[in-house]
Amino acid sequence: MSICHQKHFPVMLAEVLQALCPKDGETYVDATFGNGGYTEAILQKANCRVIALDRDATVLPRVEEIKQLYGHRFDFRLGRFGDFDKLVGENINGAVFDIGVSSMQLDQAKRGFSFAKDAPLDMRMSQEGQTAADLVNTLPEEELADILFNFGEEKKSRQIAHKIAEARKTKPITSTLELAHIIHQVVKRSFDQAIDPATRSFQALRIAVNDELNELQKGLEKAADKLISGGRLVVVDFHSLEDRIVKTFFKNNSEKTIHVSRYRPQQTSTSDAVFGFASKAIVPSAQEIGLNNRSRSAKMRYAIKK
Ligand SMILES: C[S@@+](CC[C@H](N)C(=O)[O-])C[C@H]1O[C@@H](n2cnc3c(N)ncnc32)[C@H](O)[C@@H]1O
Repeated sequence: MSICHQKHFPVMLAEVLQALCPKDGETYVDATFGNGGYTEAILQKANCRVIALDRDATVLPRVEEIKQLYGHRFDFRLGRFGDFDKLVGENINGAVFDIGVSSMQLDQAKRGFSFAKDAPLDMRMSQEGQTAADLVNTLPEEELADILFNFGEEKKSRQIAHKIAEARKTKPITSTLELAHIIHQVVKRSFDQAIDPATRSFQALRIAVNDELNELQKGLEKAADKLISGGRLVVVDFHSLEDRIVKTFFKNNSEKTIHVSRYRPQQTSTSDAVFGFASKAIVPSAQEIGLNNRSRSAKMRYAIKK
């Protein structure tokens, strides 16, 4: 274990490798380096090159480890995958995205992603820009409610936002436990509930702080542009909001089967399609879920450029 207290187990690694299909002499992008699980596996699978991206500078010690092992076959670029076109100038044979936060980010209490421990309400992956505390203390109540509803699918978003607006009149909300306590006053946890109800609001704030859904949309579009013909785009996502974006992106950019008439054969429209093939959602095996509970909500989709 290198940069973290708890190792990040790469999710659906075997399926990702099968979909990406690394070959000698080719170039791949790991758009979400994290603990380098995918990067290292790709480098081991073929005598290829990997360009890795991450917006979080705390991954740099692990980047150094991989550099020591793989030398010029590995290159790291610090930045957001929404800037894929600026970070990756070269054409590529494949790209993989493993969306969301890493176990290291979740487990480092001071990053403020989790309410398992009390910590400053931060949640910034890049450690720059507005923190979750900034949003919680400054956004109009309405806007806060929209974030909780749209990004957390929280049914009691208006009531939570109202409680937050009331609480911050007395004193700014600065810690994870303070916020969790306010949320729990509205949505109480019942004994049979596996997931704490504050999780939805924390997820929503994290998505807003890091502009995650826009990043994903931009990242997919720009990565697809850089793929050569036959190149592969592989995405692992963890919740319905992300999966909707990935599914729609693949669907809208794939060859479509048109049913012209009941009596004639199906026709395939090929005009402006980017991908010749797009997979359905693939889920982790029961065995993987047993070994790594974090994988339980993962979905993998991949597409192959025309
Ligand atoms: C789930 S982890 C990836 C784990 C990695 N596949 C592994 O096996 O170790 C996601 C990583 O993506 C990074 N990340 C999330 N959004 C990003 C973005 N928009 N641009 C660049 N990196 C991002 C996070 O900082 C985090 O390190």
